[in-house]
Amino acid sequence: MATIRIHGGKPLQGDIPISGSKNASLPLLAAALMVPGTSIIENVPRIDDIHAMIEMLRALGVRCEFIEPSTLSINAEHITSHSAPYDLVRKMRGSFYVAGALLGRFGEAEVPLPGGCVIGSRPVDFHIDGFKRLGALVQERHGIMRATAQKLTGSHIIMDSRYRSVGATVNIMLASALAEGVTIIENASREPEVVCCQRFLEAAGADIRGIGTDIVVITGVRELHDVQFRSIPDRMEAGTYLIACSAARGDITLHDAEPRHMSLVLDKLRGVGVRVETGHDWVRVRTDRRPLAFEVTTAPYPGFPTDLQPNAAVLGALAVGTSVVEETIFDARFNYADELNRMGADITLRDSVAIIRGVPRLYGAPVVATDIRAGSALVVAGLCADGYTEISGVEFLYRGYENLEEKLLGVGAAIHRADDEPHDGAHDAQSR
Ligand code: UD1
Repeated sequence: MATIRIHGGKPLQGDIPISGSKNASLPLLAAALMVPGTSIIENVPRIDDIHAMIEMLRALGVRCEFIEPSTLSINAEHITSHSAPYDLVRKMRGSFYVAGALLGRFGEAEVPLPGGCVIGSRPVDFHIDGFKRLGALVQERHGIMRATAQKLTGSHIIMDSRYRSVGATVNIMLASALAEGVTIIENASREPEVVCCQRFLEAAGADIRGIGTDIVVITGVRELHDVQFRSIPDRMEAGTYLIACSAARGDITLHDAEPRHMSLVLDKLRGVGVRVETGHDWVRVRTDRRPLAFEVTTAPYPGFPTDLQPNAAVLGALAVGTSVVEETIFDARFNYADELNRMGADITLRDSVAIIRGVPRLYGAPVVATDIRAGSALVVAGLCADGYTEISGVEFLYRGYENLEEKLLGVGAAIHRADDEPHDGAHDAQSR
């Protein structure tokens, strides 16, 4: 099993380039399936989830290749199948986006239901309700969703205001971009990754109003056209490194980032005593002391992102005083807490709330990552901890973090793949 070994306790110092966003790129790749020509997408990270999505597109007959290190060329002129392979959907839930794209363009999609997930139940009922509202006939049999429509017709779709589902907003936008008439999505997600998809569709010829608001109006067009588009920086990757430096101490500057997508996270860091400076596409954080305790509740954008909640808990674990972290989006997102406690943290869980009594130091230990963000929290903890931390289950990390070891080595961390010889960070995502 792949493991990462970290010798912690060193402050972080230097510069980190931020990669393109995983959660923005996945919908863009699905949206490219709707373009009967070529989409050129820039700033796509070379991570395992993107490779899985590329495999998915290829399985449907799409030609898809990197023409530059982070630029993908996707040609979806000739599609050979409307049926997504189970193995790929099971590997990566984001591939369910091909449902909206196939249904929208061809009036037919056969996609396995993604199933359970370690961070909580993640049904796709909002997606399916949306497809039905657009006039699709949807059947769920033997674990497979089959949606068909002679013609999709615009509709007024009111989504659950508590969740503002990211995935359902994207899937309904894709399905309605070529539908007849006007679709209104109320309580739409406003996450920057959704806005990025809206801008892509607009650049490809779709008619979308209310971009970035919670009421999105889509007037169907006949066809999309060739497009060249740049995806946004990964705010979860950026947030992970900012929190890492805030917890381990030091002085790092992120480049190619988008501080405007991280306002609340940056405010929280200021609140715990970290010095934060921002420019157009960079963020610098500095600190030489323990953070102060804080309270945070996850919420849909512009609230505090659930994907950074596990990292925030590490900051709380080392804070002066007692921090309170509340999770409102997923129902099982504290599965890293026992692992942090094994490293000396003092975290008590009460339903959806973690009460974290700060301790002066964490201690290295063997720990297991159970999902992408739990894994990144363990990396952050390992960077702060005295001694060696060995993290297994790091396959999860490579699903979402490009050149993780290389970037951390660049700011002075002692980190290496334990199944490799210690190396200088050169890490080829494609070789895994
Ligand atoms: C996306 C992100 C994920 C992030 C999450 C919330 C990708 C690939 N993943 O996941 O990293 O943590 O947004 O910001 O972009 N729900 C239902 N029924 C549905 C859909 C959702 O009940 O049909 C519930 C979910 O169980 C969850 C909540 O709504 O409790 C939010 O889910 P959603 O916003 O859809 O998350 P994802 O798109 O799966």
